[in-house]
Amino acid sequence: MDTKQRHSTIDKFLIQFDQALRTCSPGAAQARRSSPAAGLSDSELKLSDKKHIAGLMRINHTGEVCAQALYQGQAATAKLDQVRQSMEHAAEEEVDHLAWCDERLQQLDSRPSLLNPLWYGISYGLGAAAGLAGDKWSLGFVAETEQQVCEHLEQHQQELPEADQKSRAILNQMIEDERQHGESAKQAGGSELPLPIRQAMSAMSVVMKKMTYRL
Ligand SMILES: [Fe+2]
Ligand SMILES: [Fe+2]
Repeated sequence: MDTKQRHSTIDKFLIQFDQALRTCSPGAAQARRSSPAAGLSDSELKLSDKKHIAGLMRINHTGEVCAQALYQGQAATAKLDQVRQSMEHAAEEEVDHLAWCDERLQQLDSRPSLLNPLWYGISYGLGAAAGLAGDKWSLGFVAETEQQVCEHLEQHQQELPEADQKSRAILNQMIEDERQHGESAKQAGGSELPLPIRQAMSAMSVVMKKMTYRL
């Protein structure tokens, strides 16, 4: 191995590590688009509602941490040459979601999940495995993930107290974006995943949501 190649591997590792740190450190993600909640007035919320909303938004923030890790893991192993541009566009929008949820948690006097490094590691591994399985499975994995995320966000829309227009505006825009990410992955050739894998993904997200709501 020559020096140039060795440096390039180290560089790649450092870039990945930097990305992981920025994803898991509160306040580090920088959104490109302003938050859909900006400009909406903050209504007076009961303390119990505020705590509940913070739990929900903490779950959504962790979902975005997982999305970052999945894309990073896939980018490390997948070919994806033809669809890299649309995947990168989706990954950029996920940074927006991450920053918006983070900001909303601050406004609710709360914080992201302490378990985020753990979820990042697991999701990175899953993304890397999907990337190794080939592009059609990798894209199928993105499509299925986005489908499950949309269903989950729609459930949170119903759970949010009526008064919290800020969180609702964020969720509305996220659902729109996630639906588009899923469609792009399908159009780029994503295959439908086997039922046991879809069920395992769903089971893992249930565990993640339960743990993250409080922690
Ligand atoms: Fe997202
Ligand atoms: Fe997405």
